[in-house]
Amino acid sequence: GHTMEVRLRVNGADRTLQLAPQVSLLDALREHLGLMGTKKGCDQGACGACTVLADGERINACLTLAVQYTGREITTIEGVTDGELQRAFVRHDGFQCGYCTSGQICSAIGMLAEHAAGMPSAVTEHRHGDAELTDAELTQAEIRERMSGNLCRCGAYNGIVDAIQEVAR
Ligand code: FES
Repeated sequence: GHTMEVRLRVNGADRTLQLAPQVSLLDALREHLGLMGTKKGCDQGACGACTVLADGERINACLTLAVQYTGREITTIEGVTDGELQRAFVRHDGFQCGYCTSGQICSAIGMLAEHAAGMPSAVTEHRHGDAELTDAELTQAEIRERMSGNLCRCGAYNGIVDAIQEVAR
């Protein structure tokens, strides 16, 4: 069928692909670029396994067309090389099967940036009664709410929240 040239910038490298216009960013990453760290769970925006960063903002790669990301800076788990969140997930048992972990980590990076930029979460007002907290801190309830788009079928949520809270400090 009809294909078009799509230029993506992925993990700091320029990549040019010939894609059908309806190819999702997720399929472009996995099937055309061989970046299998980004997972396909539901393929319809419900699980967060496919979360990547576009110019630092977290997106579900399954819901977006690759062509829409021409010229944007895409970061997948393969591009998350500092290892800080990965080590925290290991320390806090933040995964069991690991299928959701790439998406959880990319989502956590985006979430921490949103928090640092002052974007409120739905539970932010619950903080106000707690004089112990500074604005820079994230409560467990806030982390859960901000990470609610990323499902973990094993139920490793306590470890995930602990790991993210440690990195947020
Ligand atoms: Fe994209 Fe589930 S695979 S949200």
